[in-house]
Amino acid sequence: MNCPNPSDVAENLQWPWPQTWPSHRFPLRLGVMASGEGSNFEALVAATRDGPLRAEVVRLVVNNAACGASARAERLGIPCQCLDHRAFPSREDLDGALIAAFQAAAVDLVVMAGWMRIVTPRLIEAFPDRLLNIHPSLLPSFRGLDAVGQALAAGVCLTGCTVHLVRPEVDSGPILAQAAVPVKCGDDASTLAARIHRQEHRILPLAVALAAQRLESGDQG
Ligand code: GRF
Repeated sequence: MNCPNPSDVAENLQWPWPQTWPSHRFPLRLGVMASGEGSNFEALVAATRDGPLRAEVVRLVVNNAACGASARAERLGIPCQCLDHRAFPSREDLDGALIAAFQAAAVDLVVMAGWMRIVTPRLIEAFPDRLLNIHPSLLPSFRGLDAVGQALAAGVCLTGCTVHLVRPEVDSGPILAQAAVPVKCGDDASTLAARIHRQEHRILPLAVALAAQRLESGDQG
């Protein structure tokens, strides 16, 4: 397992909107689900520790103990639990274990930050309007797997990333935040994904604050 470079997320983060940051009254307890490198997970932690997000990441759940996200959790001192999807007979059973993990940690919101499993209504209904997902495209374009490859294959000049509330249809639900990213001449999946990632790290904490503000104001629209 590669231990990620401690500076690969935090050094790139800036907080350009301190005056306009969405306000929510209560500090949040956040749960995060991740399957991969975990750079978005780290960006969230950085936003709570060095940035304007009034929250604490109290639990990370991964589905693969050797993923980069779990190494980051260890470095950052965040409790991490592995729920290996292969150990569960169905998606609903895995989601039941996720619910138990996050309820035990008394989380207010759950963020799917690169969770590479389809979730079921069981999880969505356990956290109504409290389950967020980040996707590397300007939804509703390029849902599903390999959104960056889909954008390159389509020849678009502009793509980006989206954070949305989770609904049962994959990569759908009310949009909380988006950022547009240009596709440049000579881009391949790796250069374009890196450019998108930098924007993801900015909008994910913002979207969490917006979701909290939305819940407090009772706006379910
Ligand atoms: C991100 O591009 C996110 O949009 C997608 O999975 C990727 C996770 O990246 N859902 P990381 O593991 O946070 O670095």
